[in-house]
Amino acid sequence: MTTYTWTAPTRRGFLFASAGLAGLGAVFATDGARACDKHPGPGAPSEGRIAGPDEPGEPMEIEGTVYRPDGVTPAAGVVLYAYHTGVDGLYAATPGPPRLRAWFRTDPRGRYAYRTIRPAAYPERRFAAHVHTQLWSDTVPAQWGTDLLFADDPLLSAGQRRESEALARFANIRPLVRGPGGVWRGVHDLRLKTTGDHFEDNTRHGLQG
Ligand SMILES: [Fe+2]
Repeated sequence: MTTYTWTAPTRRGFLFASAGLAGLGAVFATDGARACDKHPGPGAPSEGRIAGPDEPGEPMEIEGTVYRPDGVTPAAGVVLYAYHTGVDGLYAATPGPPRLRAWFRTDPRGRYAYRTIRPAAYPERRFAAHVHTQLWSDTVPAQWGTDLLFADDPLLSAGQRRESEALARFANIRPLVRGPGGVWRGVHDLRLKTTGDHFEDNTRHGLQG
């Protein structure tokens, strides 16, 4: 099976430390009237935070590029909605949208980046820890992106490893490298599909707010 290529996580670098984004908890900088709508507006940042700076857990920075279905052309202006569990392995203490979630919009080069904490596996520890992704734009039908999984996770199943390897350079099981300050860094590139997905009611929170 083809193995995926590791792209150095420092290829672009993060602005969080130097650009004063440490306090960026909001996911939309502008266009608040459309916040939490299916199309969050041009103000959605291409990079920012999911978990705030005080969130318990090990810090993690993920960056990536969203590509068109051809797998080659970067897709600009695509909304990326990402959400994950906290260190307790839960999305939220009560039914509803995940507590740790954010929307981003890919930059002209199709790129995005976020800082958050490493999610934990669900409490029953039957499934590997993961970050869910959804993607859409005015021209891209709403769809699931691949779940981000972590190569060092002992809970990964053989099936998950096979599925990831089949995605070649879009493999969703990604290595993380721990850098200065104990920050885990990794890359998660995504490839758009030509068709959208059906979203169950309990997973429409990216589209509906
Ligand atoms: Fe999940």
